[in-house]
Amino acid sequence: MTTKPRILQIGSFAGSPNANARLAEQYDVVELWKYEDREKALAEHGKGVQMVATSANMGCDATVINALPDLKAVCSWGVGFDKLDVEAAKARGVVCSNTPDVLTDCVADLAWALMLATARRVGQGERLVRSGQWGKTKGAFPLGVRVSGKKLGIVGLGRIGDAIARRGDGFDMTVRYHSRRQRTDTPYTYEASLVELARWSDFLVVATVGGASTRHLISREVLEALGPKGIVINIARGTVIDEAALTDLLNQNLVGGAGLDVFEHEPSVPEALYSDQAVLLPHIGSATWETRQDMEDLLLENMAAFVKSGKLLTPIA
Ligand code: 8YV
Repeated sequence: MTTKPRILQIGSFAGSPNANARLAEQYDVVELWKYEDREKALAEHGKGVQMVATSANMGCDATVINALPDLKAVCSWGVGFDKLDVEAAKARGVVCSNTPDVLTDCVADLAWALMLATARRVGQGERLVRSGQWGKTKGAFPLGVRVSGKKLGIVGLGRIGDAIARRGDGFDMTVRYHSRRQRTDTPYTYEASLVELARWSDFLVVATVGGASTRHLISREVLEALGPKGIVINIARGTVIDEAALTDLLNQNLVGGAGLDVFEHEPSVPEALYSDQAVLLPHIGSATWETRQDMEDLLLENMAAFVKSGKLLTPIA
């Protein structure tokens, strides 16, 4: 008989240094991803499960929440919780946590990596060198656009949006933002109309939450307003941009460029997006040793605090 608290782990924490091993050491883990029939596994092993360990990517839906009679907390690795059914949890008196703050800097850094790479055609240049074609093709390498001193529009001035904006100060950029609510504690200018922000921006960086409330917020109209010289960057969620409209406009040169770390149907990326105007990354915003370690620590600290005191350290409000 084990005396360890019983938890359910939705999937393997493949991108985290030691999360699987640490969870297995501290808890009696039901490893849901190893069962072919999830429903049967939940029915057979769900009794006594007090906590679920999951991630922003794996989420936790109402079926899982409602199949665990003794569930009290869902703890997620990552900041986004668009795949975690917080309402279903609330309805059952189950509390949820995520791992905010610890990944802010790395996600903001990656937004900048995408801005610079897209504007300066870094991926395209690298592909040319690696292909052995440098000096062998006709004409000069296509010109990029200057980043320093330009206009930076941020969609969603939360923790990550703010960190992206602050980095813009170092590049002598003028920053404006659009978000659900105007902030009173920021030097940046608020733009109430997203279309107007896009029209004004040289770079439009998406840093909002995902989920139904922001689905296709970056619509065809917004992208058209950004225009043939504008560059859109997305480190938030693929669902925030109308990907079909973006693909179409990029391929007609009606949007200048796109730097994307997230996609509507990950890990599937439409081949029509494989344009030299686009820089495409496999959702690696938080993927550094340091940040993934911090996310893992915070996940485990939330779980330990809940076992000890019934309280989460970073609850999702
Ligand atoms: C991903 C993220 O979880 O925290 C988030 O919301 O999107 C990231 O940290 C991670 O990149 C794995 O997909």
